[in-house]
Formats: sequence, C-alpha cells, structure tokens
Amino acid sequence: MRKVFVSPSILSADFARLEQECKSLEKSGADWIHCDVMDGLFVPNITFGIPVLKSIRKCVVIPLDVHLMINNPELYVTQFAEAGANIITFHLEATDKVEETISLIKKCGKKVGISVKPNTPIDSLLPYKGLFDMVLIMSVEPGFGGQKFIDSSVEKIRRARELFPDVLIEVDGGINKDTAKLVIEAGVDIIVAGNAVVFADNRKEAIAELRKA
Ligand code: DX5
Ligand code: ZN
Repeated sequence: MRKVFVSPSILSADFARLEQECKSLEKSGADWIHCDVMDGLFVPNITFGIPVLKSIRKCVVIPLDVHLMINNPELYVTQFAEAGANIITFHLEATDKVEETISLIKKCGKKVGISVKPNTPIDSLLPYKGLFDMVLIMSVEPGFGGQKFIDSSVEKIRRARELFPDVLIEVDGGINKDTAKLVIEAGVDIIVAGNAVVFADNRKEAIAELRKA
C-alpha cells in the first residue's frame, strides 16, 4: 500500500496566530504544510506572500508545500524558494513561460509542481512530461477554502496516474473523510485539506482519518 501524505492548508487558519497554528498542525502529524499564495488576479482573493512564508519557515521543520495562485509565477519563484519553500507549485494557466518557470524552481534545488484548474484537461501537461515532480489537481475552483468537491476530479486523478506514473499526484479542494476515500482509490499521493483539518475538534484524529480513508 502506498503511503498517503496529508498537507493541511493554513488558508483556513487564524492568521493572527500563525505560529501556533503551524506548530499545532505539525504536532498533529501533518506531513507537509500547504501554503496558498493568491494575488487577487489569477484568483479573486488575496492571501500572503514571501515575508509571511519566511516567518512560517522558522516555526516548523516539515516541508512547506507552496501553492502559487499568481499570474506570471516566473517572476517570483526564486524568492519563494529563498523564503523556504520545499515544493513550489504554479498553475499551468498562469503563465506562457512554463519551461522557464520549471527551470527557475529547479535551479534553486526545489521540487516542481504544476497545477491545473477543474476545467483544464490533465492532458495539457503532456508536453512537459518528465520535467515536473508533482501534479496538483484542483478539485474546486481555486480561491477559497470550504467549497464542495467536484466529482469529476476522481476521473482526472485516474487519468493523471496513467499519464504520469512516476510523479506525485496531489489533490486540493473539498477533501473530507468521504472524498478522501475516493481520491485515494483513484491513486492520489498527497491530500490537501483546509477546513477538514483546521476546523476539526481534534486535528490529529482528522489528519489520521484522512490518511487512512
Ligand atoms: C483553494 C486552496 C485550497 C484550500 C482548500 O484555492 O488552494 O488549498 O485551502 O480548502 P478546503 O480543504 O477547505 O477545500
Ligand atoms: Zn491550495
């Protein structure tokens, strides 16, 4: 059995207590911490950026899984790498400089993730096969936590598993105990969960439940 990783999203956390929140997730068994960076242009919401990531880096030792929902990520990936990201994921839809973005991330010695929005076919990643370490399949429209899982994402994960047998597959959006079961069966490696972990009465139990859903 493949080990499934859980990467809780701090989007749903209390940003006034970010240090305690990140430490609590780490102590609760999070494998990675998922950091949602939004620019108000690629998505209709704004979160945080490089200085905040730098502060998060000082609070925990587990890998920081940075999900860039920003236009022209090639302009910023180096700074996010220097701020302490371990895996940098950008959106295929956010740039026409996909290969340049990949090389910049690799040049910093970081893992490369590419994400696709719900309406972008997974096959659009085929031209870049072999160049990335992880695919992030959005199972909601990016921008906000707490949305409903889009059912067709399960089929998309299966297809990704077929097309890219050697890369990690991560899913993000609307994951709870029930949807976790579906995506794990479809072959996902990493589950992102915001509300399902952050708002749980017991974060440790919530993470453990998702992992073995
Ligand atoms: C949404 C973000 C997600 C979000 C997931 O654009 O990319 O990471 O935090 O939140 P939940 O798990 O609540 O859907
Ligand atoms: Zn995310």
